[in-house]
Amino acid sequence: MSDQRQTVLLVEDNPGDARLIRESLTDLSGNMFDLETADRLATALLRLGAGGIDAILLDLALPDSKGGETFKRAKAQAPTVPIIVLTGLGDETLALKMVQDGAQDYLMKIGLNGSTLSRAIRYAIEREKSEQKIRGFNEELEGRVQERTSELEAINQELEAFSDSVSHDLRGPLHVIDGFSTMLDETFGPVLGPTGKKYLQHIHKGVQEMAGIIEGLLNLSRLGRRELKKHPTRLDEIVESVIADIKIETQSRQIIWKVGALPLVDCDQGLMRQVLVNLIGNSVKYTSRREVAEIEIGETTIGDERAIFVRDNGAGFDMKCADKLFGAFQRLHREEEFEGTGIGLATVRRIVQRHGGRIWAEAESDKGATFYFTLGSGKPSLAATEAKPS
Ligand SMILES: Nc1ncnc2c1ncn2[C@@H]1O[C@H](COP(=O)(O)OP(=O)(O)OP(=O)(O)O)[C@@H](O)[C@H]1O
Ligand SMILES: [Mg+2]
Repeated sequence: MSDQRQTVLLVEDNPGDARLIRESLTDLSGNMFDLETADRLATALLRLGAGGIDAILLDLALPDSKGGETFKRAKAQAPTVPIIVLTGLGDETLALKMVQDGAQDYLMKIGLNGSTLSRAIRYAIEREKSEQKIRGFNEELEGRVQERTSELEAINQELEAFSDSVSHDLRGPLHVIDGFSTMLDETFGPVLGPTGKKYLQHIHKGVQEMAGIIEGLLNLSRLGRRELKKHPTRLDEIVESVIADIKIETQSRQIIWKVGALPLVDCDQGLMRQVLVNLIGNSVKYTSRREVAEIEIGETTIGDERAIFVRDNGAGFDMKCADKLFGAFQRLHREEEFEGTGIGLATVRRIVQRHGGRIWAEAESDKGATFYFTLGSGKPSLAATEAKPS
């Protein structure tokens, strides 16, 4: 603690109380305080505006201001000067409230003596200094976090723009390959013979695949910049429509669908559909070798979070590879086993993250997989449907 003299402003309209406090402080051996007084808040504010005050002893009931208002105005005038509130009997609740609002301490006027006063003032000054230091550190930290975040955002945007322009530029030559191979087929089809035709088919299939990859990449790279159009959205309706589309394409398969209660969430409806199309689509794809596939979609509680899950009894995967799942072009199964480009889950993760949520999976090889995701602040607010196994 420094042994400099401290200037204390006593704001007190009762001359008797003011004298008592002055005498208590003057009587102290080794008195270290210069006491100035103000009997009105207006006078006190003027004095505080001039600077040089190290601590304030503040009576809340003044002729020109009362209660919490007195404290608020003094604090606003000198935000970094510690305030010790002086209270009468029965004012303790109010005084405590002032401490919660930023007063360093409070003292009962009754029974006040020099050493209590001195200790409170010196303690308040030191505590205010420590708090200022902590505030400084926090601000510095906050500044650094913001700096890093902007750097990362800039790098991310650069990468997205790069991937966007590369994908875009790849489309042109791909169209050329596609167009000329079609012309080749149409013009020289008869002379090419079966082997030539087969080669053309391979070219066509390759072109289709590459077009799919380019579309996926373009979609992924644009997700970061796309503005979210959030609305309260019924997840059960999206799931129902996704399943209806899938049922048309999987008529030859036996799939047991279990759809539990799903909430109303605040999200971008189009993007949420992409999430569910990908997750449910994966469940359908990776159960294609099961005689009877079981796919369950519902909501559950994980810790203190509500999460949506999509579970299946399909091929699953080894959890050792789980960290790779959500990277672009990362596939845990061979193309001969299950077709795909490996862009679906990268897209899903980006969408979930943009909603402030997170996604993860649990699985076991050959025993099925469950994908969970949360939506950050758009917490499920209402269970919109009842469980309805179908
Ligand atoms: N339900 C699932 N069961 C087992 N493995 C899964 C499941 N969902 C995803 N995977 C694994 O995660 C990998 C990445 O999934 P992702 O959806 O990104 O790609 P994909 O399905 O291979 O291709 P696409 O881009 O066409 O979706 C898959 O290749 C697969 O190995
Ligand atoms: Mg997929």
